[in-house]
Amino acid sequence: MPRKIIIDTDPGQDDAVAILLALASPEVEVLGVVAVAGNVPLDLTSKNARIVCELAGRPDIKVFEGCDRPMRHTLVTAEHVHGKTGLDGPAMPDPTMPLQDGHGVDFIIETLRAEAPGTVTLCPLGPLTNIATAFEKAPDIADRVQEIVLMGGAYFQVGNITPAAEFNIYVDPEAADIVFKSGCPVTVMPLDVTHKALTTAPRVEAFRALGTEAGRMVAEWTDFFERFDKEKYGSAGAPLHDPCVIAYLIQPDLFSGRHVNVEIETLSSLTRGMTVADWWRVTDRAPNAMFMGDLDAEGFFALLTERIGEL
Ligand code: BDR
Ligand code: CA
Repeated sequence: MPRKIIIDTDPGQDDAVAILLALASPEVEVLGVVAVAGNVPLDLTSKNARIVCELAGRPDIKVFEGCDRPMRHTLVTAEHVHGKTGLDGPAMPDPTMPLQDGHGVDFIIETLRAEAPGTVTLCPLGPLTNIATAFEKAPDIADRVQEIVLMGGAYFQVGNITPAAEFNIYVDPEAADIVFKSGCPVTVMPLDVTHKALTTAPRVEAFRALGTEAGRMVAEWTDFFERFDKEKYGSAGAPLHDPCVIAYLIQPDLFSGRHVNVEIETLSSLTRGMTVADWWRVTDRAPNAMFMGDLDAEGFFALLTERIGEL
C-alpha cells in the first residue's frame, strides 16, 4: 500500500525536484499539493506547482492555493536564489491544468478528517504557514496525522537566510513553533543533511544523460540555482534540499539522526527562526522530533536519478 501524502510547497527548483520524485515513486500516493508563499509569492508558487505536475504527466493532481503570507509577519522571499519566477532556468510553458477551488488549508483539514486516522503524512517543503493554520483552525486533526516530514532548520549548519536561521523556519517561526509543539511525530531534514545532498557536476550530468524532458529540466534547474550556493559556500554544487523529504519516505535508511527536543526561537530579533535542537541532550526537555544529521549522498542521488528516469 503506498503511503498517502500531502505535499505543502513553495516551488522553488528543489521543491520541483521533490514533487517529481514523489510523482515518480510507487511507494507514495500524492493526495494533493498545496502551495504556500515562500521562495516567491503565492501566485507564482501555485503556478509552478502545476507546471511541475504537468511536466510529470500528472495534470490530474489536485493543486490548491494555501496562505499568501506568514501568520504574524510580512513575507520574506528568496528570488536571489530561485530567480524572479521561483523556477528560473529552462523556459517552461504556462500550465493548463486548473487550480482547485477552495483554500488549501481546508483541503488539509478535510483530507485528514476523511482519511483513516494515522494514514496521512504531511510533507512541508516551505514555510509551515499552511500546516500551522490548519492546526489552529481544526485542533482535532493533529492526532490524525501519521507523520510530518519537513525540510527546515539546522543545527551544525546554523543558518542560510540569517546567521542563525534556515529560510523555511525563518519566514514563519510562529507557524514552525505550532508544528513542533503539535505532538505529531515530526521528522526534520535540516541543512545539516541537505548540505550533503550536493549537485556535483557528475550528478547533474547523470540527470541530463537520461535524455528525457524531466531529466533535462532537473539538470537545467540545478544549473540555474547552483550558481548562488556555489559562490556562497565555495562548494562543488548546490544542496538539493527538499527532495530529501520524499527520499526519506521511500528509503529511510539513507538518513540517520537523533530523536531530540527542538524549540523554535520566535522572540529574539537576532536569532529569530533558529531551530534550537538539543542534539547533545543537555536539557531535560522532552524529545519532539527526529532531527536528521547525515545522509548517504551517493544512495540519495542514485535513487533520485533512477526515479526521474521513470518519468
Ligand atoms: C529551503 O528554502 C528554500 O529556498 C528551498 O526550497 C528549501 O525548501 C532551504 O533553506
Ligand atoms: Ca522549498
